[in-house]
Amino acid sequence: MDAIINKTKIVLLSGDITEQETEAIVNAANPTLMGGGGVDGAIHSKGGPEILGECKLIRQTLWPGGIATGEAVATTGGRLKAKKVIHTVGPVWGGGDKGEDRLLSNAYKNSLALAVEMGIKTISFPSISTGAYGYPVEKASRIALRAVMDFLGNNEGIREVRFVLHSSHDLRTYEKTLTELM
Ligand code: APR
Repeated sequence: MDAIINKTKIVLLSGDITEQETEAIVNAANPTLMGGGGVDGAIHSKGGPEILGECKLIRQTLWPGGIATGEAVATTGGRLKAKKVIHTVGPVWGGGDKGEDRLLSNAYKNSLALAVEMGIKTISFPSISTGAYGYPVEKASRIALRAVMDFLGNNEGIREVRFVLHSSHDLRTYEKTLTELM
């Protein structure tokens, strides 16, 4: 399913984010930036050690204490098809009354802002925070799509934003939410 917002195409698809040929793919990282499971594990294992090397440099310079939730940083894509990986940290779901929606929205918006800053035209997102971090997918899809649509409504330059869902259930959830928001 596709939608057009202010000349940018939003594409919803199911697949493996590490296989996407967009210029950048977004990693659902943790504050340490030292890798993990899920998307994080897939990106590091397929992208190779160069990515972790640049993550370590970022930890030694920009974020010595670890990245704050909702912030985004960029590294090389290493051996991935994507040139760049944008690492962002989504919130851990804590019931919905701890500012999770704002932090999740920030993760998408800061990733897009960094992409625009780097002149990136095409970018793929996973469904941030809806795996190990436990964010209910329906709620997360609403936050994610609203954040991306808000950002694209006020910023030009990006040609395509993909949401790469890892199950048909998640794809259907995002498609339903996008239909409601259009
Ligand atoms: N491609 C696309 N989506 C994927 C892939 C993949 N290769 N692998 C997993 N997913 C999906 C999951 O099914 C889930 O819907 O990405 C979504 C996010 O799941 P996680 O990767 O667990 O990310 P998150 O919930 O944000 O938790 C982050 O998990 O891996 C650790 O280091 C990471 O501590 C951090 C935490």
